[in-house]
Amino acid sequence: MPHQALARQRLLIKGGKVVNDDLSVVADVYVEDGVVQQVGLNLNPEPPTGLTVLDATNKLVIPGGIDTHTHMQLPFMGSRSKDDFYTGTKAAISGGTTMIIDFAIPQKGCSLIDAFDTWRSWADPKVCCDYALHVAVTWWSNKVKEEMKSLVQNKGVNSFKMFMAYKDLYMVNDEELFAAFSCCKELGAVAQVHAENGELIAQGAKKMLAMGITGPEGHELCRPEEVEAEATQRAITIANAVNCPLFVVHVMSKSAARVISNARREGKVVYGEPIAASLGTDGTHYWNKDWAHAAAYVMGPPLRPDPSTPGFLMNLLANDDLSVTGTDNCTFDICQKALGKDDFTKIPNGVNGVEDRMSVIWEKGVYSGKMDENRFVAVTSTNAAKIFNLYPKKGRIAVGSDADIVIWDPKATRTISAKTHHQANNFNIFEGMVCHGVPVVTVSRGKVVYEGGAFNVTAGEGKYVSRPPFPPYVYKRVRQREQVCQPIPVKRAPYTGAVSGTPVAP
Ligand code: URP
Ligand code: ZN
Ligand code: ZN
Ligand code: ZN
Repeated sequence: MPHQALARQRLLIKGGKVVNDDLSVVADVYVEDGVVQQVGLNLNPEPPTGLTVLDATNKLVIPGGIDTHTHMQLPFMGSRSKDDFYTGTKAAISGGTTMIIDFAIPQKGCSLIDAFDTWRSWADPKVCCDYALHVAVTWWSNKVKEEMKSLVQNKGVNSFKMFMAYKDLYMVNDEELFAAFSCCKELGAVAQVHAENGELIAQGAKKMLAMGITGPEGHELCRPEEVEAEATQRAITIANAVNCPLFVVHVMSKSAARVISNARREGKVVYGEPIAASLGTDGTHYWNKDWAHAAAYVMGPPLRPDPSTPGFLMNLLANDDLSVTGTDNCTFDICQKALGKDDFTKIPNGVNGVEDRMSVIWEKGVYSGKMDENRFVAVTSTNAAKIFNLYPKKGRIAVGSDADIVIWDPKATRTISAKTHHQANNFNIFEGMVCHGVPVVTVSRGKVVYEGGAFNVTAGEGKYVSRPPFPPYVYKRVRQREQVCQPIPVKRAPYTGAVSGTPVAP
């Protein structure tokens, strides 16, 4: 047999229901060298030797999940998040996610390109699935503007995150937001915001500590829902003023979600990203008597104590008021969380989710009857691929698409637990949740990387995925508005009457 034929990786997924965001159809899927070659009934690729065949009868065959928001090995709040790009992507794969988008975050005054290169140097040798990087804009100058351009044109970055919180660390003011949004629009990038009023958080935290509230409940009390909603509204207003598409990351509250929903109803180009945590659990845990338990849920913006929040966010996700799901996976173990044992402002912010996102959304979204299997694919994969210009290479099962595929058993159940999860931390915020919907096989670029609980992964075999600017899904409307929605001066004859004024003494 010629050497080339031996090297070909061939895979046939037989008899499953292929689910895309717009259609479900029973079909076989034939994959060669990492790319889908055929989708159809009764495929019989030749030769039969050297072909891996997977039986997907009575199962769904779905595009691999895309987690739009992770922080692997992030240096943050005096520590470094526990899941690195190896454990984090391995955990992702076991949960049916085949691509993550992480964030390169420069310190204020530092180079965005250096941060991007640093994150690449951490991720490239470790990733087990494909990944991309958003880049954070934590300060503003002409150099930042030039670097944003270079990142878009030379490094495959098409999204930038601005923080409205973390005063003195990452926070930018409204003038800087305006400049960054304008730059994103010029470059064809998507602007992202961490929407919380950082000044109010700083003041609220001081107040709580002065009242003797030092435990994790202080984290939520110092930044209630309106602190998130106000910043969300402000970001939308500024983005709309410059006709820049906006992506609100980690939507945690009913109030912020309502703001996004209203803006979409007003025709604004804005997308909301609830996360596994905000869809699957709530902030009542901050009042748990066990400090370590309560601290494990600390993240920003906080989970909300209103227990109807997850269901509300899921309703909005089901009806397209909210668009995609990430996790904000940023894990710290109990010892790391204990940095804030006497002061909630020092508890490293972050929770798990990259492994459990798909199951949590299936359970709370599909099993509950709120969304169908197609909407599930839209919110876990396709919409992310469209917004970040990865579609239809990612986010779809079709001829020519990357073979990032999951065989999903909607009938099977699993119980989430830190005892069995693959993440590096020793706590799981979804502990004990029984989920219908289990990924039985995960395929990354045509290779079976996870099957029936067993991994077949190698650190570094995932690839960095470049994302071109001007995603059509986002920018078609933006460009058209740029052309037809500009204000024009009223043509009128010049005023010729008298002009008078009263001089004011200096
Ligand atoms: O608590 C969080 N969210 N940690 C990660 C940093 C961020 O704001 O996304
Ligand atoms: Zn954030
Ligand atoms: Zn609890
Ligand atoms: Zn984050």
